[in-house]
Amino acid sequence: MTAPASTSGKIRVAVVGAGEFGHHHARVFREMDSVEFVGIHDADAERAKAVAAEFRVPVIASLEELQSRADAVSVAVPTIAHAQVGCALLQYGLDVLIEKPMAATLAEADQLLTTAARNERIVQVGHVERFNPAVIAVLPIVHRPLFFEVHRLGVFTPRSLDVDVIFDLMIHDLDILLAVVKEPVTEVKAVGIPVLSDKVDIAHARLEFAGGAVANVTASRVSTERVRKMRFFQQHEYISLDYARRDALRVGVKRPGPQPEFSFEKLPAPETEPLRAELEAFVQAVKTRQPPVTSGVAGRAALELATRVMGSILAHAASVNIHSNSTSPSVSDGSKVLLEKGVLEKSLVEKSVQ
Ligand SMILES: NC(=O)c1ccc[n+]([C@@H]2O[C@H](COP(=O)([O-])OP(=O)(O)OC[C@H]3O[C@@H](n4cnc5c(N)ncnc54)[C@H](O)[C@@H]3O)[C@@H](O)[C@H]2O)c1
Repeated sequence: MTAPASTSGKIRVAVVGAGEFGHHHARVFREMDSVEFVGIHDADAERAKAVAAEFRVPVIASLEELQSRADAVSVAVPTIAHAQVGCALLQYGLDVLIEKPMAATLAEADQLLTTAARNERIVQVGHVERFNPAVIAVLPIVHRPLFFEVHRLGVFTPRSLDVDVIFDLMIHDLDILLAVVKEPVTEVKAVGIPVLSDKVDIAHARLEFAGGAVANVTASRVSTERVRKMRFFQQHEYISLDYARRDALRVGVKRPGPQPEFSFEKLPAPETEPLRAELEAFVQAVKTRQPPVTSGVAGRAALELATRVMGSILAHAASVNIHSNSTSPSVSDGSKVLLEKGVLEKSLVEKSVQ
């Protein structure tokens, strides 16, 4: 199947979900000359109207209407609706960029992948950090990293509380780790607790990769400061990547020993807005019919690892409850729902307990 095109020859794009993040998708599409931005759909008609007015595009009344009006769609609805909205659009023959996490369950992620394959459509997942200039600067110099320290901390806002912090924030770093290490994760140990919501608000995971690399990953949405950092060590080198500042520093050991000498290099990073680079990559994938870097398969892999982390957290919480009568962390209702829905497949939970 070839890429569809409008009479202007440009890809016709639309945004579904005009909330906090969909608003950013709309802003960036509005700025891009390479696309024809045909409109916005939201289940909340007033919300759609307000954002459509701001960016001077039509409101699209239904998903079905998009079939004849668009070629490619950004989906920024709550995670729980990703699969339902995404599959409908794919069945209409549209290419789809779905915000992260790809879906609420692995079964739903599989449903998206199957529907995309059946309809020969592109699925990209919104793992926007892959387009962060700091990550792009670091990737070419990665050489057998063995130890990672990752922190993604934020202050509390009443947003994205439909998912645990693992699926909201940590999943960004899990995706980056999979892309950097390029090896299967053999062991996951994690702890996490609900603090201000009924879901896990702060979590720490220790991941071990097949080649021996170890990553300590912390994610929190109840911190007093905003931190977005990944630091890692490879032979004679330390690399510090700041997602928020969008820069990366490479520190090398020129002379080891009691009076060491170091070399410092600020890695050259492109000055692009990550979301813009992500949407441009999506449009490029739609045009070329080549799988995007953050493909549905990559999105599923990140979701699977997040699911294993969540499984380990639940196992830890259960063991604390069993072995202690003191104030043990309780498993949130949200996590229980995910467990019942099949997100935390039994085998994954068992694997993490071993
Ligand atoms: N990549 C990132 O860094 C990043 C950052 C923030 C949010 N997100 C993701 O973006 C998605 C949206 O998050 P948000 O913070 O913008 O949420 P939000 O609640 O602010 O907005 C969601 C919007 O979707 C609409 N909606 C709900 N169900 C719908 C449906 N079935 N059809 C059409 N519209 C529907 C709502 O009316 C609302 O306007 C989430 O999946 C979230 O994880 C990603």
